[in-house]
Amino acid sequence: MPRRNPLCHTSHMDKVNLEEKFSLFHDHWKPRIVGELNGQLVKLVKFLGPFVWHHHDQEDELFLVIKGCFNMEFRDRRVRLEAGEFLIVPRGVEHCPVADEEVHVLLFEPASTLNTGNLQNERTSLVLDRL
Ligand code: NI
Repeated sequence: MPRRNPLCHTSHMDKVNLEEKFSLFHDHWKPRIVGELNGQLVKLVKFLGPFVWHHHDQEDELFLVIKGCFNMEFRDRRVRLEAGEFLIVPRGVEHCPVADEEVHVLLFEPASTLNTGNLQNERTSLVLDRL
């Protein structure tokens, strides 16, 4: 018997159009889930303004800019990310995204990742919607 991938049914094999998904929400700093694989989530989020300084004890986070640009602030430097560029923030490293204008970002990170990392405050999204 050939081995079958349990994820290999139609709902998981639909393609995802990022522009269409980004058109479905308008708030900032609240990620939406658009894909899942190997215990990792693909999320979409819009940034505007400064976020909060935080770190993640267990997770590395990938930020891929789809539209716009933002600065990822670290305690000792700043990285400007433009559309088509990504950055991986290793676990344990404090960071704070700051967006002067609205930016569309794709996140790729373990399902356990909380957007505010070690903090829980009004910016924390405990339950994420799926689009
Ligand atoms: Ni983070």
